[in-house]
Amino acid sequence: MTSRQRPTTLVLGTSGLGSGDEEAAVDTATALLRSEHFIDTSNIYSGGASERVLGRALSALAPEERAPAAGRILTKVDRDPETGRFDADRVLRSVEESLGRLGVEQVSLLHLHDPYVLTVREALAPGGAVSALVRLREEGVAAAIGIAAGPVPLLQRYVDSDLFDAVLCHNRYTLVDRSAASLFRDASDRGMRVFNAAPFGGDLLARGPRDGARYQYRPASAELLTWTAQAEAVCARHAVTLPAVALSLSLRADTIDGTVVGVSSPGRLDALEQLAATVIPDAVWTELDALGPAPSPIDDSGYGDDE
Ligand SMILES: NC(=O)c1ccc[n+]([C@@H]2O[C@H](COP(=O)([O-])OP(=O)(O)OC[C@H]3O[C@@H](n4cnc5c(N)ncnc54)[C@H](OP(=O)(O)O)[C@@H]3O)[C@@H](O)[C@H]2O)c1
Repeated sequence: MTSRQRPTTLVLGTSGLGSGDEEAAVDTATALLRSEHFIDTSNIYSGGASERVLGRALSALAPEERAPAAGRILTKVDRDPETGRFDADRVLRSVEESLGRLGVEQVSLLHLHDPYVLTVREALAPGGAVSALVRLREEGVAAAIGIAAGPVPLLQRYVDSDLFDAVLCHNRYTLVDRSAASLFRDASDRGMRVFNAAPFGGDLLARGPRDGARYQYRPASAELLTWTAQAEAVCARHAVTLPAVALSLSLRADTIDGTVVGVSSPGRLDALEQLAATVIPDAVWTELDALGPAPSPIDDSGYGDDE
């Protein structure tokens, strides 16, 4: 037992939703909305198609299903895809686009997404992007606001502002990289909701260490493939799979409220729920620890400095 108040939940990631056949994507979106899991999307995912497809699926649900399903959609504001502009006006326009595509009037959580075109100072300045998010929360358009990105030092700066209700970090609390651990502890201690995205590193820990495997959307090094093969052998010795263990690492963490996993089809959703139900023997964690840290490719130096 842990002291956490809220159970860690699965959150279904939709960054690829709508990038292929739109009718198949609507079927997937319907399955996700009916699953009773939270759903993570963003203004920019699949060029807006992720939100559009979720909105189409939502509008086709029975009225009694629709409101609770809409309340489980979490989205993000993004920079203007053409100009890169990411000021208060763009935040307001971004959320307007999202509400229109989703067919809703408010969202339960709205993140500032990948604000790399801004310095933290610019984002937090009066009249800047974050002030618009705060206003949207005051007006009830967003019940809560969050910061979503990768680099831990950058996220820590936003968390330190104490303006956000939630933080999302990706690829940095996995079997390969644990660099978000202190960020997650700090945010959790502040009472923020903590989301850990990409527990499979986007590929490597779901499909295993094969030629061409990727971690954090880049080719995995030979050293990382070797380490992952050793981890996979540990899992096999205890009759569990590498993805089940990778997922469990996040689901069992007492600082993480939601584990955000990319789901591209109804079949993947079923597989994910089975993985999440796998019981991992304690010896697996002991033997993985004995392998030593993985040669992680993550290097966040340079992020979060006061420019
Ligand atoms: N800055 C941010 O806010 C940010 C950044 C990154 C991610 N995210 C969120 O987090 C979500 C998850 O990230 P992610 O999708 O990049 O990484 P991920 O969840 O670590 O990995 C997803 C990948 O694993 C594969 N996979 C899942 N289950 C599998 C299974 N049972 N067998 C084989 N392969 C399996 C999927 O393959 P298929 O594609 O074939 O299904 C997909 O390519 C995103 O969708 C997004 O919502 C947010």
